[in-house]
Amino acid sequence: MTFTLHIWRQKNAIAQGYFEEFQIDVTESTSFLEMLDGLNEQLISNGHDAVAFDFDCREGICGSCSLVINGSAHGKPRSTTTCQLYMRDYKDESELWVEPWRATSFPVVKDLIVDRSAFEKIIQSGGYIASRTGSAVEANTIAIDKDTVDGAFDSATCIGCGACVAVCPNASATLYVAAKVNHLSTLPQGEIDRQRPKKMLVEMERQGFGTCSNYRECERACPKDISVVNITKMNKLLYQNK
Ligand code: FES
Repeated sequence: MTFTLHIWRQKNAIAQGYFEEFQIDVTESTSFLEMLDGLNEQLISNGHDAVAFDFDCREGICGSCSLVINGSAHGKPRSTTTCQLYMRDYKDESELWVEPWRATSFPVVKDLIVDRSAFEKIIQSGGYIASRTGSAVEANTIAIDKDTVDGAFDSATCIGCGACVAVCPNASATLYVAAKVNHLSTLPQGEIDRQRPKKMLVEMERQGFGTCSNYRECERACPKDISVVNITKMNKLLYQNK
């Protein structure tokens, strides 16, 4: 398979970015990130600057491999991360436009890498529980029904990749905040901090993210299928504890 790549190059957060064109031959079983690895091997062996891109697990867990490919966050297939894409997913296309997340709160570090530390600031503002340290308590001390546990787990599958922000016309992080709020607040151990939604939403705004206008693009782009129902539940908590 032969592709023409248009890859975003940008030296740092304030430099002017541009698309650079490359040609590459790959097999259909090559993963998207392996394709970028191959491109970088060619660039380095020819004395050029490699394309900077982010990854850690390459298993859909860490959320760092965040790319917009032909206008779609994490590429065309739904419910997947960039690292789980294969070139066969693009067998009907010959040109690929590869860009970083576009949001003021996620400044470009270099090329395809963005700084998502704004998400960490939101977590620091309330995305934790206060509990005594020491050995784990006996598992049955607090009985929790399975539906509640499953609901908390569904919210906890958010990997904090930022696709929800990248596709939102408001660059809102509301789905991210809602997932974090619900995965903690659904369980009795995390229910105690009733001000958590407010604290995290205030920090979200302070970090420059927009507010939610119910476009629901976030839900469609989320690689972990986090539902906007999380936002409804968070709003309920917010108004109950005003
Ligand atoms: S590299 Fe970890 S989710 Fe893709």
